[in-house]
Amino acid sequence: MENTKAKDTRRTFGRKLMLGGAGLAALQAVPGWLHAAGATGTAEASRWAQSAAPGQPEPTASFTGDASLKAHAAARGLFVGAAVNLGLLTREPGYRQTLIDQCNIVVAENAMKWAPMRPAPDQFFFDDADRFVAFAEEHGMAVRGHNLCWHEQLPPWFAATVNKQNAEQYLVQHIKTVMTRYKGKIRAWDVVNEAIKPEDGKPEGLRDSPWYRLLGPRYLEIAFRTARSVDPAALLTYNDYDIETDGAAQGAKRQAVMGLITRLKQGGVPIDALGVQSHLSAGSASKIDGGLAALVAQTRALGMKVFITELDVNDDSLEGDDGADREKSVAGIYGSYVGSMLSSPAVTDVLCWGVADRYSWLNSKGKDGSKWRPKHPDREEVCLPFDNNYQPHPAFFALRAALGSRKA
Ligand code: XIL
Repeated sequence: MENTKAKDTRRTFGRKLMLGGAGLAALQAVPGWLHAAGATGTAEASRWAQSAAPGQPEPTASFTGDASLKAHAAARGLFVGAAVNLGLLTREPGYRQTLIDQCNIVVAENAMKWAPMRPAPDQFFFDDADRFVAFAEEHGMAVRGHNLCWHEQLPPWFAATVNKQNAEQYLVQHIKTVMTRYKGKIRAWDVVNEAIKPEDGKPEGLRDSPWYRLLGPRYLEIAFRTARSVDPAALLTYNDYDIETDGAAQGAKRQAVMGLITRLKQGGVPIDALGVQSHLSAGSASKIDGGLAALVAQTRALGMKVFITELDVNDDSLEGDDGADREKSVAGIYGSYVGSMLSSPAVTDVLCWGVADRYSWLNSKGKDGSKWRPKHPDREEVCLPFDNNYQPHPAFFALRAALGSRKA
């Protein structure tokens, strides 16, 4: 009974994803997806998640080879993978092996961002990125490049060096140099990351970022055109977060994202894909509904792909410290979310933002660490498909079942 309900839920959302074609008005939330599953609010989110969890594992279930994520993805022409931490790749054999066993695509969690790649205004540091791309090549994995233009993780010298006169030159030179080095080896590049923030009050909902202040809205067009000129085979992506749920702020942001990519695409700016980061939260996953379905359908109608680029589930809002309960709830969200998204043919790539819980950015101990865990600052999040011994969580099986549900 519960399982049937979950399947119906996925089908309903799937139909919404297939609609496409409508104008921006389609971005108004289409109510009903989760309500059909009986989860109407935060308190019920975990119950919904549990009822929706597909693919519960056998106690001794195998999870490599034919039973791996990548086998299930590749059989359906899909890409599945994770963000890679270069330090762990060297230090932790289990981590490295899990990537090899499970992923047919990888992305560097930090190594290809401006700060690590640009030690000085006239210098590039390629060692880590080279090592990362070589690892992917050695194991036949595709690569996502992340990212070429963002307001965060800019190098310390940036603010004092880059000005309105030279900003275009810096942006173009960075994109040309980095993309030329990895030309032909990158399936998709995040050309611009997180450019929308309606609260900043700028035209089109653009974020008041350093790039915006230096170059105005045209920085996006400069970045995408430069990227295409260097590596015409790479899928050029606009990537953003907090556009998944039907909350009011999220709806406004989604609308602005859609407006931006529509303007770029219809204006002849080269752009091929929308990255939906998918940093989900167990507390608001029940609000993922028609708004996202419309975003995916509309992006597809523009002739663009949609990627799930940074999937994880923040479980801080789940009460009850029982790990197994939290695992089940998180698995339900993985299964429903990925299954729903994959019901659109536009969605082809699913990447998690890490592999095992312990090393997730959500569990980081640094100055920002506990900001992700306000309710349970001392509780380690169960947020990724693998536990700290690289054994699969229920989320692994839910994700795998979702990949397996993809229609050929
Ligand atoms: C995060 C990394 O996971 C952290 O290690 C780093 O300290 C900060 O950045 N959106 C993005 C990613 O596009 O690049 C961010 O990655 C997470 C949010």
